Amino acid sequence: IADALDLAEHFADGQKICVVLGDNIIEGNIRQAADDFRAQPAGAKILLKEVPDASRFGVAEMKGDRIVGIEEKPKQPKSNCAVTGIYMYDGSVFEKIKKLVPSGRGELEITDVNNAYIREGTLTYSFLEGWWTDAGTFDSLRRATNLVAETESRRTGGPLEEEDDE
Ligand code: G1P
Repeated sequence: IADALDLAEHFADGQKICVVLGDNIIEGNIRQAADDFRAQPAGAKILLKEVPDASRFGVAEMKGDRIVGIEEKPKQPKSNCAVTGIYMYDGSVFEKIKKLVPSGRGELEITDVNNAYIREGTLTYSFLEGWWTDAGTFDSLRRATNLVAETESRRTGGPLEEEDDE
């Protein structure tokens, strides 16, 4: 993810940016977090979501209301706060990416970028409202599809559409 983000340096043009992973689907919106980040002088902001299966994700270690570290897919998560794939960064993100070294799974980790901001003391966070799903597995893709269908049927007051097997 960090490697992919690095390709967007020219596009970002030194400005603040918001990165949203394509497999992350949310019910609500990120307007408040984006407004808060615009007002933040520098640093980064991430969105957290409490989940029952935190070890599938980046997981925030909390001390009181501070994030003191993020672990990528820990076997024993230190909290149930998953780091969603919605990240807001200032222009220094590209310097931080260039200092990364590949992780155990051979990737430049976005979690290491976020930890660099934590070390600098400039990472803020908020909790995402509504459901969130990372549709990166077949099960979660099905869950995402169902959640969207249910939300849509609630919104329109109509029934869930029948599955078409043909
Ligand atoms: C990535 C990040 C992880 C984050 C997740 C959110 O995981 O590495 O920290 O919690 O996205 O969707 P990946 O998609 O690489 O498994």
